[in-house]
This record gives sequence, structure tokens and C-alpha cells, in this order.
Amino acid sequence: MESSFIIQTLLLLLLQIICLAAGQVNYFPIFRCRDNGNFTKNSTYETNLETALASLSSAASTNYGFYNTYAGVSPNTVTAIAICRGDVGSETCRDCISNTVLLLRQNCINNIEALIWNSNCTVRYSNRTYASVVEARPSAKVSGSVNASDFDVFGKALRGLEGRLRSVAAGGNSLRKFATGDVGFGPDSSKIYAMLQCSPDLSSFDCNSCLSIVYTESQGCCDGKIDVGVFYPSCYIRYSNTSFYNNPPAIMLPSLPPSSTKSPAVQGGVDSEKGGKRKSSKSVYVIVPVACVFAGLVLIGLCIFMKKRRKNIAATKKESGTAFSSLVMSENQNHSANLAQVGSGITFEDLIF
Ligand SMILES: *[C@@H]1O[C@H](CO)[C@@H](O)[C@H](O)[C@H]1NC(C)=O
Ligand SMILES: *[C@@H]1O[C@H](CO)[C@@H](O)[C@H](O)[C@H]1NC(C)=O
Ligand SMILES: *[C@@H]1O[C@H](CO)[C@@H](O)[C@H](O)[C@H]1NC(C)=O
Ligand SMILES: *[C@@H]1O[C@H](CO)[C@@H](O)[C@H](O)[C@H]1NC(C)=O
Ligand SMILES: *[C@@H]1O[C@H](CO)[C@@H](O)[C@H](O)[C@H]1NC(C)=O
Ligand SMILES: *[C@@H]1O[C@H](CO)[C@@H](O)[C@H](O)[C@H]1NC(C)=O
Repeated sequence: MESSFIIQTLLLLLLQIICLAAGQVNYFPIFRCRDNGNFTKNSTYETNLETALASLSSAASTNYGFYNTYAGVSPNTVTAIAICRGDVGSETCRDCISNTVLLLRQNCINNIEALIWNSNCTVRYSNRTYASVVEARPSAKVSGSVNASDFDVFGKALRGLEGRLRSVAAGGNSLRKFATGDVGFGPDSSKIYAMLQCSPDLSSFDCNSCLSIVYTESQGCCDGKIDVGVFYPSCYIRYSNTSFYNNPPAIMLPSLPPSSTKSPAVQGGVDSEKGGKRKSSKSVYVIVPVACVFAGLVLIGLCIFMKKRRKNIAATKKESGTAFSSLVMSENQNHSANLAQVGSGITFEDLIF
């Protein structure tokens, strides 16, 4: 059973490598299982955890993608939070949260505290109370390996886009603090697509601060890279030269007493600065699925091949185990102590810390 887990992990890694070669970076899900304590099987804490996590997916999906709950009494209280990406519909939101909850339970089996950033949502739980303040740890920085051809032009365009989207996201209301947008740069009218989001319970001021920090970190780790994500529990920034979000968002918000002067219709989405040029991103939508179907076929072949070689794989099991724990080490060196990573969640992109 363990060896089939390793085979799965290897195949997943391989698929990611192949899809990366096709121009698409997929660094999700990103795990953080905090190594500060384990609960015991069948304990009150586990029961409370199940209770808290069970309510998340339906509650968040009917609540514009954000839900904060707790279960049990001290010292076994479990607090859990789910945040969906601001552009996804309620069905996608619900699916993402229930899948992510499963992943958390499978990968952070006994951890008292854990978090996963997934592609369409973030889920975390803890025995402490989450206050509505900026949480900067754990964090993750991920990027593709491709550099922009002209760092200066790219960097300037990105800076402008980030500033514009940050004020839209921070100006959102208590249901959603989210913005997406794109900007053209360079002579061949390449584009940068960016997405910024805060936990909507942050104040506008805190959202703005959090986004400033993740942007600064993105320039620290990944200056000039064209496919980047920097994730905090409270906010994140992602950008890419390929469109990766729904515009307009799949769900519009009701009008609320505004926490800004923006009209609700504008919140959650910013239109392209220069409309029109959609051609290049269209071709990516075709190329990437084709590449991934091809990758799938290769993988099926490999799968059969590897089943036959199961014995050999089992023999090298120890070594891959060591490799994963050294990945954990290399993360912890820079990101002081906090949270360790679980094997199956690691992608090689994740190494950039
Ligand atoms: C929690 O359990 C894992 C193994 O399941 C162990 O490696 C780790 O040291 C434990 N953490 C604490 C703080 O006891
Ligand atoms: C936990 O509870 C289940 C069902 O009540 C039981 O089957 C299982 O043996 C228990 N496990 C432990 C470790 O106590
Ligand atoms: C995320 O949501 C989009 C729809 O917005 C969907 O196409 C995609 O498959 C989802 N990703 C995952 C990993 O489920
Ligand atoms: C959460 O659990 C950890 C590990 O058992 C413990 O050290 C900490 O005090 C707990 N925090 C709260 C608020 O109960
Ligand atoms: C990207 O730029 C970095 C920093 O300038 C450089 O070290 C790296 O080799 C470049 N990568 C590629 C693939 O060109
Ligand atoms: C994004 O950059 C990659 C790597 O340079 C390139 O292969 C791809 O065509 C670009 N995508 C778009 C939409 O320009």
C-alpha cells in the first residue's frame, strides 16, 4: 500500500514536470502541517476537528466563499477557516473545500494545526483562535523557472498592475476582498495576469499591508519570473503571463454597506486595461490541454511499466523518504521553524523559499 502511494506521488510529480514543460505551472496543493503537537486518535480534539471541518464546504460556498467556524470547548476547541478564490462559483468552491478537507485529514493526520493552499480555495484549522489580523506564517513562495525577457519593462508593468489591484482588493467589503486584472507590456504585447486576495475579515488597512508585503516578497524571491505565487494565511498574490481566472467572477456580491467608495459591481474584478487582444491566451487554452492529454497517455504507459517494476520501487522506498525529509529541512531553514511539509504536497517548485 505504501509503495502504491509512492508510485502515485512519483506520477504526480512527473505529470507536473510534463505540464510545466507545456508552459503551465501547477504548484497546488501546498501543504503546511504544523509540527507543534499531535492529537490522539478518537480524542475529543479529533471529534471537534471533524465537526468543524464538516461544516465548512456548504457554509462557505453559500456565504460568498468565506467561512469561519469553531467546535468544542477549551482546551479542545478547534477553529477552522475556508476561503475560496474570489472568482470561482459556489459549486467549485464547495468541491474545492471538501477535497481540501480530505487532503488535510489524509496528509496532516494528527496535526493539531494545519493549512492547505489549493488552486481554488484555502483551508486551515488550529486549536488557537484566529483573530482578524494579518498572519504571515506559514508562507509559501512558488514560481516557474522562466524569466521575463526584459526585467525592467516587466517589473514596471507588474508594479503598476499590483498597485491598481491592491487598492481594489483592499477596498472590498466583508464578504470578499479580491481583485484580478491584466496589463500589456513589451513590444510584442505580452500580458501579465494577476490575482490578489485577502481574507475578507481583514480591515482594508490590514489587507493593503498584507498585499504590499507579499508583493515585496514576490520581488525578493522571484524577481523577473513570469509565473509566481506568494501565499500567506491572510492574503496572497499570484501572477502569470497566462490567464488563469474567471473574468468577471462567477459570483457577484450583493450590495453591502460599502467599506469603500467603490460600487459593488466593480469589486472582485478589474477589466483589462486594453481590451481586445485575447488571441494569445486562447491558444494557450488549447495547447495546455493537448499537452496534458499527451502527458496522461505517457503516464498510463508508465503506470503499467511501473507496476511491473514494483519490487524495484519498493527497494528504493527508503531513499525517496529521505529525499522528502530533506526538502522539509531546506524549507525550515529559511522559514524559521514554523511548519513542516508533507511529502505528497511537495512540488519541486515549492523549493524556492
Ligand atoms: C507528531 O507525530 C509525528 C509522527 O506522526 C512526529 O514525527 C512528530 O515529532 C510529532 N510531533 C510532536 C510535537 O510530538
Ligand atoms: C476509534 O474508534 C473506532 C470506532 O469507535 C474504533 O473502531 C477504533 O478502534 C478506535 N481507535 C482507537 C485507536 O482507539
Ligand atoms: C478550479 O476551478 C476551475 C473553475 O473555475 C476548474 O476548472 C478547475 O478544475 C478547478 N481546479 C481544481 C484543481 O479543481
Ligand atoms: C495548542 O496545542 C499546542 C500543542 O499541544 C499547545 O502547546 C498550545 O498551548 C495549544 N493552544 C491553545 C490555545 O490551546
Ligand atoms: C533567470 O534569472 C535569474 C536571475 O537573473 C538567473 O539566475 C537564472 O539563470 C535565469 N533563468 C533562466 C532560465 O534564464
Ligand atoms: C508565457 O511564457 C512562456 C514561457 O516563456 C511561453 O512559452 C508562453 O507562450 C507564454 N504565454 C503567453 C500567453 O504569452
